[in-house]
Amino acid sequence: MKVFITGGTGFLGAALTEGLLAEGHSVTILSRSSRNRFLKMGLAYCEGNPTKSGPWQEEVSSHDVVINLAGASIFRTWNDKSKEAIRNSRILTTRNLVDAIGQSPKNITLLSGSAVGYYGFRDEEELDENSSPGHDFLAEVVQDWEAEARRAEELGVRVVLCRIGVILGRDGGALSKMISVFKWGLGSPLGSGKQWFSWISLHDLVNIFLFLLENKTFSGPVNCTSPHPVTNREMTQALGKVLHRPTILPPVPAFLLKGVLGEFSDVFVKGQKVLPRKLLQDGFVFEYPEIEAALAHLV
Ligand SMILES: NC(=O)c1ccc[n+]([C@@H]2O[C@H](COP(=O)([O-])OP(=O)(O)OC[C@H]3O[C@@H](n4cnc5c(N)ncnc54)[C@H](OP(=O)(O)O)[C@@H]3O)[C@@H](O)[C@H]2O)c1
Repeated sequence: MKVFITGGTGFLGAALTEGLLAEGHSVTILSRSSRNRFLKMGLAYCEGNPTKSGPWQEEVSSHDVVINLAGASIFRTWNDKSKEAIRNSRILTTRNLVDAIGQSPKNITLLSGSAVGYYGFRDEEELDENSSPGHDFLAEVVQDWEAEARRAEELGVRVVLCRIGVILGRDGGALSKMISVFKWGLGSPLGSGKQWFSWISLHDLVNIFLFLLENKTFSGPVNCTSPHPVTNREMTQALGKVLHRPTILPPVPAFLLKGVLGEFSDVFVKGQKVLPRKLLQDGFVFEYPEIEAALAHLV
């Protein structure tokens, strides 16, 4: 299949592009920059800013599938400006992609990035695709992001909303940041340590995207998380164990993180327990369902 991907230069997008090419698909990456381009059979680039309409939109119509992964990082201090970037980079990109899909005579499939942030911060409740959304900043961004993608359903497009958990992979994402702290012997739980951490290994996530691409019965929201979420304390202990580093320091108090990081600290001291009900029902097999084996493979 011919796949058009936004965010294909990113942590997930680059791994997914490799996976798609390995499966014999051809891939066009839309990127704002012409730097860091790789020459590979089946891989093409298109230059353009997905948050703005432009000539790049004409490229979409020659593809069978659009994968939408562009978005400014949430790992930064949140203020009005950065919140606007987090929001606009997702909502405007999705709006422009759906407009472009609408101009195509082809029956295109849309796999659109989303996040478990949709559910907001919850305590012990187990969340599946039918659970209600949250009300915090990220939850509202994700709901609006999904609503933009769902406009494509009115065009008869198969739309899958991939509600992704925290991605654990080598060389990037949250794990790289955590490993540097642990290597200094500073690994400890955050806040109460009881908050849930819904994670997914990058390897399994790439396979989930390939699975969703091929399985045409899937549409709507799909939780892309491991079937075994862990608490922050369990995550801390598992990472300490595989890195052979102590985790004996007292937990970092939530108020301290709030003082340093502001509203963004909620991402660390609050959480949600998300389960991949649809994937399990349809027989998707996770290679790294348990946190310790996943981390051991990665570090
Ligand atoms: N990483 C996670 O743990 C995680 C968890 C849940 C959901 N997700 C979602 O999954 C998607 C991919 O995540 P990732 O970790 O691979 O992200 P990433 O490494 O930060 O890459 C995102 C890509 O988006 C593009 N981008 C960045 N800022 C942009 C902006 N202001 N306007 C337009 N495009 C911009 C960049 O492409 P160019 O520079 O080439 O244009 C970049 O390669 C994101 O939408 C993210 O919200 C990620």
